[in-house]
Amino acid sequence: MVPFPVLMTNATSSTSSQKGPETVLILDFGSQYAQLIARRVREAGAFSLLMAPDTPIEELASHNLAGIILSGGPSSVSEEGSPRCDTRLFELGVPVLGICYGMQLGCHMLGGTIEGAHAREYGRATLSIADDSGLLRGIPTETSVWMSHGDQVDAIGDDFNVLATTSTCPMAAVAHRTIPFYGVQFHPEVTHTPHGVELLRNFLYEICGLQGTWRMLDFMNEQCTLIRQQVGDRKVLCGLSGGVDSSVVAALLHKAIGDQLVCVFVDNGLLRKNEREFVETTFRDHFEIDLRVVDARKDFLSDLDGVTDPQEKRKKIGHRFIECFKKSAEEITGHTDKAITFLAQGTLYPDVIESGHGYSGAAANIKLHHNVGGLPEELGFDLIEPLRDLFKDEVRKLGEVLGLPDGLIWRHPFPGPGLAVRCLGEITEEKLVVLRDCDEVLLEEIVSANLYRSTDQVFAVLLPIQSVGVMGDGRTYESVVAIRAVETQDFMTADWAKIPYEVLGSISNRIINEVRGVNRVVYDISSKPPATIEWE
Ligand code: XMP
Repeated sequence: MVPFPVLMTNATSSTSSQKGPETVLILDFGSQYAQLIARRVREAGAFSLLMAPDTPIEELASHNLAGIILSGGPSSVSEEGSPRCDTRLFELGVPVLGICYGMQLGCHMLGGTIEGAHAREYGRATLSIADDSGLLRGIPTETSVWMSHGDQVDAIGDDFNVLATTSTCPMAAVAHRTIPFYGVQFHPEVTHTPHGVELLRNFLYEICGLQGTWRMLDFMNEQCTLIRQQVGDRKVLCGLSGGVDSSVVAALLHKAIGDQLVCVFVDNGLLRKNEREFVETTFRDHFEIDLRVVDARKDFLSDLDGVTDPQEKRKKIGHRFIECFKKSAEEITGHTDKAITFLAQGTLYPDVIESGHGYSGAAANIKLHHNVGGLPEELGFDLIEPLRDLFKDEVRKLGEVLGLPDGLIWRHPFPGPGLAVRCLGEITEEKLVVLRDCDEVLLEEIVSANLYRSTDQVFAVLLPIQSVGVMGDGRTYESVVAIRAVETQDFMTADWAKIPYEVLGSISNRIINEVRGVNRVVYDISSKPPATIEWE
């Protein structure tokens, strides 16, 4: 590794252990992949945090820093007003890796020049490695990488070494000669760059000298400490849905603050069959958690009366949830000085990013997920969202560390707005009954074919159309149900599951025979993107 000047060292400071776990900070310039970088770092055994690019340098320095990664982003460095970071970043005494926009910005800050839009390149490219020490150690000299950029670095002068090139990008990977700054034009964090993980590990272990000792158990302990600090001796209300995310939040909070936690389960009339009983027995019998059940079916369904727009449904449901939580909080503690002011929720990173609430604020709004975007502006609660930086599979790991039963940890996700976004168009009680029955048959068949664990989310969707059929000797004109089954790791991209024809056959037979009002079953074979997992 190249020697470099150390002006403000944290990683080498004797007090570093008091500053928390060794941390890799990721400055998010608006990349859809920013959290994926954070996740790759966590997989490599270091704690990582996403931060806004303009986070004050003092705050960056307050962490037990092992390294910094500058993410990609949609802006152009040469554009006025494009996001920047403090130039003193290079004085923190820790290595910095710039990816795509992050590389261009780093090179620009260190004297390089950037070439505009005609350098545009999307998709696979072949990387030719000129220097296979350090960052690119152990990677084949010719390898595939994923490019997605408008600009690229044009000239860097003598202060940099070029480590690798592609046919259109003469500076695809670079290293500064005296400052520990490395830049890659391609995206090592995505699976389309097959040796990307090795590159990131080289950066973390060879260049940053990371110990790699961070584990999910540490995350649990850190979050418990943070929650205790935030909450003090006050009570917290946790909206429990019975899904893995809110169950993990409930278990985490219970570990952190014990009986200061009150869980509220809202029966909104949009649940699957027997869901309320399942949640009540699981949480009352297996955990000693204070659980209150609120029957708000009438309120939710009357709010949704005549509503057909999916975002409007989410908004109405989000608002009503908050009303229910407020009412419960009042009933539990009244308006005393101990009134409940904290609401805990199982918001995950994909919810944050797909609701357009990324760290840089630059991500697109794809759906208003009720636990993020569908909420009213004025909540009346301070939110506690300890899973906000995690992906689903990381939440499951945390659930295991917390000792939750497998049946809960491996439950397929169920969205907050529930059957409302699976009963397309207008919602009626009659349609919900049909949908619930279809969903029950579907899940029974999936479980008995041993496909529940190999698929990640399976559900039925009631379409707002009728189709002609023939049953016995008569013509029918009844509902169509779509089956959605997907395989995915992070729910941000997904592929449709290749369920065997026999299983699809028995699902269809059983639904049409057993559920009154359905005469046609179709199978959804769209991947995400361009489709989403839910239909609304
Ligand atoms: P999409 O449909 O956006 O779904 O591909 C990705 C994951 O998020 C779930 N989902 C939701 N969860 N509130 C939630 O709590 C919502 O409004 C919502 N919409 C989608 C979806 O079930 C899938 O797991």
